[in-house]
Amino acid sequence: MSRTIPFETDHTAVELRLLERALPADGQATVLEAGCGRTTRLVAVRDRIGELVGIDVDVEAGHENAALDRFVEGDLCEPLPFDDAGFDLVYANFVVEHLDRPSAAFAEWHRVLQPGGHLLLVTSNRASPVLRAAELLPQSTRVVIKQRGAGAREDDVFPAVYRANTPRRLREQLDAAGFAPVSVLPVATLDRYAGRRRAPAAILRAGEHALPPWRRSTIVGLWQVR
Ligand SMILES: C[S@@+](CC[C@H](N)C(=O)[O-])C[C@H]1O[C@@H](n2cnc3c(N)ncnc32)[C@H](O)[C@@H]1O
Repeated sequence: MSRTIPFETDHTAVELRLLERALPADGQATVLEAGCGRTTRLVAVRDRIGELVGIDVDVEAGHENAALDRFVEGDLCEPLPFDDAGFDLVYANFVVEHLDRPSAAFAEWHRVLQPGGHLLLVTSNRASPVLRAAELLPQSTRVVIKQRGAGAREDDVFPAVYRANTPRRLREQLDAAGFAPVSVLPVATLDRYAGRRRAPAAILRAGEHALPPWRRSTIVGLWQVR
């Protein structure tokens, strides 16, 4: 298996390839960013998006998100305030790991997508031994690591509950919600936490390279409505 799965270390590059696959070039796509927060990487493909709607429980962050055409306050685990089949793509970047009831969210994302519409997820992989070990750390320590390494703001470091966060759990829950996988890749992203320190980054990369692919720290995948 490891021979056929490339060693990817840049989740944004993998994501961009999948976004270009999911979004036609005519610029008309209607996109829902689930758990949009205050910024979005979808700016990289904004020319392919006709309307970008964001939804989040964090109202302050959502209103700060300048890339959105429209922000809606809402809990992803509850029924969403959108009509059936109104979106071409649902995108969620590091959100699934925070959801108490991801199956409920997946069912709603399936409902609001058009037939043949796409779901793109970037999420943490709890099958990674490093992530599992990190769960033992107090939240205050995790905040410091994310601030120093990945550059997160303190109020943007959310508790993770990992209810759908192994490759197998994700596959089973998305399948039950009516999604078929298009391309799902494990990506080694732990070197982000080393910040600009080269030696620790190289050690983290080497460590992830030694692991079986499905134990790498991040899952990036594209699914399609069946
Ligand atoms: C790690 S942040 C990612 C934010 C943004 N997607 C990004 O890429 O910067 C997780 C986001 O998910 C949102 N979130 C967590 N649980 C949620 C829920 N049940 N419903 C809606 N939003 C939620 C948080 O408020 C936060 O904005």
